[in-house]
Amino acid sequence: PYVLTERGVLRYEQVTYPMEERGLQFGDGVYEVVRLYNGTYIWLEEHLDRLYRSAAAIRLSVPFAPEELAARLEELRRLNDVHEDAILYLQVTRGSFPRAHAFPAENRPNLYAYIEPMARKRNEMTRGVRVIVTKDVRWEYCYIKSLNLLPNVLAKQEAVERGAFEAILHRDGIVTEGSSSNIFLVKAGTVYTHPATERILNGIVRTKVKQFCGELGIPFMEEAFSVHDLAQADELFLTSTTSSIIPIIQVDDTTIGSGQPGAVTQSLQAAYQTATQ
Ligand code: PDD
Repeated sequence: PYVLTERGVLRYEQVTYPMEERGLQFGDGVYEVVRLYNGTYIWLEEHLDRLYRSAAAIRLSVPFAPEELAARLEELRRLNDVHEDAILYLQVTRGSFPRAHAFPAENRPNLYAYIEPMARKRNEMTRGVRVIVTKDVRWEYCYIKSLNLLPNVLAKQEAVERGAFEAILHRDGIVTEGSSSNIFLVKAGTVYTHPATERILNGIVRTKVKQFCGELGIPFMEEAFSVHDLAQADELFLTSTTSSIIPIIQVDDTTIGSGQPGAVTQSLQAAYQTATQ
């Protein structure tokens, strides 16, 4: 396989990371995960927009201009001959320098991007999943898609160890998002989700759900809800690039609604399906 780097396309075996890489030592970088269905990038422009915004927020420059990067990612796809469902992982780090917390004087960021096959989560999408609730212990700039993922890693690990698909995070009882997804609540036909403040990552699928709701005439409120509200929900669902739209049918030991994926969630799944084929 081939990997795109700041120096151009390399073979997988040629890519090595030095010990003193700021991404490794400080998590000093940003990333994106982009979906491919049948070898086609989904919402690539939106993901690249967010990549440049994340990079700007940490005063990091992305090695290529947006159109150049998009063209190189298309070349990467072609070189790897990707025709199946897959994901692109792309990260930009501040580069390799003698270890010191402050920025290096020189601007020499590193980039790598590779494509990996990834099947759709059909079972979870159809049947729904169980989630747990845990504390959001992250910093205040969660709108940046940064490489500092330790709180997310620990929350997801807790979910996995408790036999759940995802961990819903809360700050002082207010649901922010999932460890790697956005969370939505449906009550009396209205969809609620945490507003796109600095406390959450404004997911690309989240913005599409907002759009689908508009098109389908489903009321959509960017209004936070509490952990207490979860048990009273008619429906819950989560979204992310790797998960698309997945119904949540149980929170800890509480069954949500009928314990089956709800009608609103299913109509949004159908809209997602139409938009991505
Ligand atoms: N995670 N919130 C967090 C904290 C996330 O890490 C993600 C995505 C999302 C959903 O964003 P989007 O719809 O743009 O994928 C929300 C990616 C998939 C990951 O880290 O693997």
